[in-house]
Amino acid sequence: MASDYNLTVHEHDVVVVGAGGAGLRATFGLAAEGLSAACITKVFPTRSHTVAAQGGMSAALGNMGQDDWRWHMYDTIKGSDWLGDQDAIEYMCKEAIPAVIELEHYGVPFSRTDKGEIYQRPFGGMTTNYGEGIAQRTCAAADRTGHAILHTLYQQSLKHKAEFMIEYFAIDLVMSEDGKCTGVVAWNLEDGTLHLFKAHQVVLASGGYGRSYFSATSAHTCTGDGNGMILRAGLPLQDMEFTQFHPTGIYGAGCLITEGVRGEGGYLTNSEGERFMERYAPNAKDLASRDVVSRSMTMEIQEGRGVGPLNDHIYLHLEHLGPEVINERLPGIAESAEIFAGVDVTKSPIPVLPTVHYNMGGIPTNYHSEVVTVKGNDPDHVVPGLMAIGEAACVSVHGANRLGSNSLLDIVVFGRACAKKCAELVKPETKHPEPNKNSIDKIINRFDTLRHASGSESTSKLRLEMQRAMQTHAAVFRTGQTLSEGCEKIDDIAGAFKDVKTSDKSMIWNTDLVETLEMENLLGNSLTSIHAAENRTESRGAHAREDYPERDDENWMKHTMTWLDKDNNISFDYRPVHLYTLTDDVDVVPPKKRVY
Ligand code: FUM
Repeated sequence: MASDYNLTVHEHDVVVVGAGGAGLRATFGLAAEGLSAACITKVFPTRSHTVAAQGGMSAALGNMGQDDWRWHMYDTIKGSDWLGDQDAIEYMCKEAIPAVIELEHYGVPFSRTDKGEIYQRPFGGMTTNYGEGIAQRTCAAADRTGHAILHTLYQQSLKHKAEFMIEYFAIDLVMSEDGKCTGVVAWNLEDGTLHLFKAHQVVLASGGYGRSYFSATSAHTCTGDGNGMILRAGLPLQDMEFTQFHPTGIYGAGCLITEGVRGEGGYLTNSEGERFMERYAPNAKDLASRDVVSRSMTMEIQEGRGVGPLNDHIYLHLEHLGPEVINERLPGIAESAEIFAGVDVTKSPIPVLPTVHYNMGGIPTNYHSEVVTVKGNDPDHVVPGLMAIGEAACVSVHGANRLGSNSLLDIVVFGRACAKKCAELVKPETKHPEPNKNSIDKIINRFDTLRHASGSESTSKLRLEMQRAMQTHAAVFRTGQTLSEGCEKIDDIAGAFKDVKTSDKSMIWNTDLVETLEMENLLGNSLTSIHAAENRTESRGAHAREDYPERDDENWMKHTMTWLDKDNNISFDYRPVHLYTLTDDVDVVPPKKRVY
């Protein structure tokens, strides 16, 4: 069957899958290093989900008060609930400073202080002096920072004449018999042709899988496609049990209302008009880390102090900030609140609810962005030819809970690191090996089976069932019982997917096939995520088990590696957390109780 297909063959030194901030930073970095790079993307680059990032990018510039990258590192480790790898966190926080200055020079239109320096706002969990004060560390372009960064990175990519394959859907990785990645097969959405991209390094910058859930701030395109490819290549995903709920999604719509609102002085209230965060986090209050704020809001609602006719959400106030601050610093969220909640933020609070926002887990990598796995006694075995960056990756710099504004930082720092590592590893225009025919046949057979699937289950129905099950069973608070019921439901949905239907002669545009490919990827993410959550019997960061309310460092200070086989069987192994630093410039932060 596979030989029936014509594969158009392309040869590049490096291929990047995904054109969000991480993918673009890597792509033009590669071009600047003199490597031939192609960026494959299922959407036009400036429509990638980075465009929706609002509040900013962290870097200890110290423009608005004293700051130090070591304080940033401490905050990130504490925010991660000691699951983050400290060598990688050191690298990210130190590199943040040159990375943001570099962006400024590339042309990102950051907001400015009166002195003309980059404007920085407070964000949750970002402190001075190892937790003593509140830091102003998040570099912002009003509340459209992702938009500003993404457009600048795309302009840089064009300037460096990087090659783009736009509206190409990456299907699967081509792996050699001895486990090296040698390329990727993609489907051209415009004309239906199939393409083999040979590469010495394939970089997965394919984003998160927020759309496994019913209510998410993520775009509909966030379907964890790279993670799905990793699982099908027989490789594991790491720390999939850790899903971040952003405290302030608009009630009902799920759209993001930036944490920058609370950074600028906004606050949350319950049905009694009480600023309840003062009880849960006496020092940081509304600027505690996201997991803490989301749990506090959920407890208020569960205890009957939610607002609205159903007492099922919370109010976010910014009326007191006044139109001037709102227009200058938060114009985008004022517009979103008007459109999606019918609220004039200068007069009324915004109804909000914790909403799925970010996946801390993903493709395991080291801080050079190389994909790693457990092999024999080696927990850091590098998979040759394969890299991952951005939300798709788990470096792990966010551990069990990411701090707001560390994501734009992560994509820029590791996009850049990846380009540098490729320049060390790849000699331009080296001849490509003959690709593994078995691997390509397997990819095409799978694609062909899905393309002509004539079963009885509809993708959209199964997707909705999966999203509802994830929302209910892998929520802000979890228990063994809710999780095992959730595992059963997701297992059943994955079983039903084998009888999916894509071929329908009445359809002119077969968008069902794209959605079916995405659904298969989402299912891999959902299965590994909910099973890993059931498996981890402790509470840490965003993973809050009511039946195991304490963090258990003795048994669980380790990364979960989760494999999924073709029959949807799950297996686990573990990697140690890196409790060491990269240099002597800073000390290890030993675990302690996490209070804000
Ligand atoms: O709240 C926000 O602006 C989101 C930022 C982030 O997730 O880093």
